[in-house]
Amino acid sequence: MPLRTVLTERLGLTHPIVQAPLAGGGDTPALVAAVADAGALGFIGAAYLTPAQIAESAREVRARTRRPFGINLFAPLPLPPPPREVEAALARVAPFYAELGLARPTAPAVAPDTFDAQLAAALDSGAAVFSFTFGVLPDAATTAIKARGLFLLGTATTVEEALALERAGVDAVVTQGSEAGGHRGTFATDFEAAMVGTIALVPQVVDAVRVPVVASGGLMDGRGLAAALVLGAAGAQLGTAFLTCDEAGVPAAYKDAILTAREDATRLTRAFSGRPARGIVNRFMTEVDRAGGGLPFPWQNALTRPLRSAAAQANRAEFLSLWAGQGVRLARRQKAAELVARVAAEAEAALRRPCAASRPS
Ligand SMILES: Cc1cc2nc3c(=O)[nH]c(=O)nc-3n(C[C@H](O)[C@H](O)[C@H](O)COP(=O)(O)O)c2cc1C
Repeated sequence: MPLRTVLTERLGLTHPIVQAPLAGGGDTPALVAAVADAGALGFIGAAYLTPAQIAESAREVRARTRRPFGINLFAPLPLPPPPREVEAALARVAPFYAELGLARPTAPAVAPDTFDAQLAAALDSGAAVFSFTFGVLPDAATTAIKARGLFLLGTATTVEEALALERAGVDAVVTQGSEAGGHRGTFATDFEAAMVGTIALVPQVVDAVRVPVVASGGLMDGRGLAAALVLGAAGAQLGTAFLTCDEAGVPAAYKDAILTAREDATRLTRAFSGRPARGIVNRFMTEVDRAGGGLPFPWQNALTRPLRSAAAQANRAEFLSLWAGQGVRLARRQKAAELVARVAAEAEAALRRPCAASRPS
């Protein structure tokens, strides 16, 4: 019996499973389309894409599937002034640049806010769902998204953030537990204070808001989906589990790092982007954090981008931002359709025997 929830009903999905937006190359059109064809919701993480790239990615997804898909952006943040003291940050990353054969880094440049142009491309993309993280959208953006009939999802790491998103008009809230891989979506409180685990966060948000809740953070298999549903969520959003799928666009060294990682292998760091994010500990993270970190977001992100691109080309995991959640030990190499089918079947079985301590088949 397929699991039916308000999410599957509202979005025409077969399974209450969402492939998290995976900005930075993980969520290829092949992945998004495979997830959609498997009956779940795939997302294009478009935050780092230009409007032209957003249009192209969406075109590729639409060429591969007729099923609904989603698109995701970062809520626009005020750009902090250019850091005045960049020499120490440059010196900290220079040896890594040299090791990869890159020219000595110079002060990073950040493009002016491109959110409005990205949003316009997202609205024309044919996506059925729009999601965002890092804040609340400007009213005009919410109005434009709703006028185009897209289902709107915002990301919360606390009850207070979920309530703010509900007030701002989202159709559903994605809770991001502290286990989650990637950047923290926290926007209304301290990053440290907002490290609430999924099992504590989901029911408290479910009790506080009227809109449906999608759980994320550390959910890797059908037991995770079943647990999320029992806690009151209408679905589960999985990021790390999709990164090791065949269709995911991250370097082989990144997939291998996840597939061999233990549950204690990840940590929160600002070393790559200046904003706290959870990833597998590697040399770059350890050395930059030990030396005192880098520039604020998004300046550090811009500073390390050439390094991360070169590391991806060279398949060098020690310089990549290996974003991954605490569920890493449950990751498998498989096709996205197999992952979706497996998670759905395991959850259905787990919910038929909710007290069973058995492992998924
Ligand atoms: C590589 C990577 C990239 C991510 N990029 C985004 C993004 O662009 N937008 C977003 O809302 N969330 C992003 N996330 C966070 C996910 O939405 C989600 O919170 C997280 O993956 C859930 O935890 P899990 O990785 O343990 O499944 C990203 C996560 C990872 C691992």
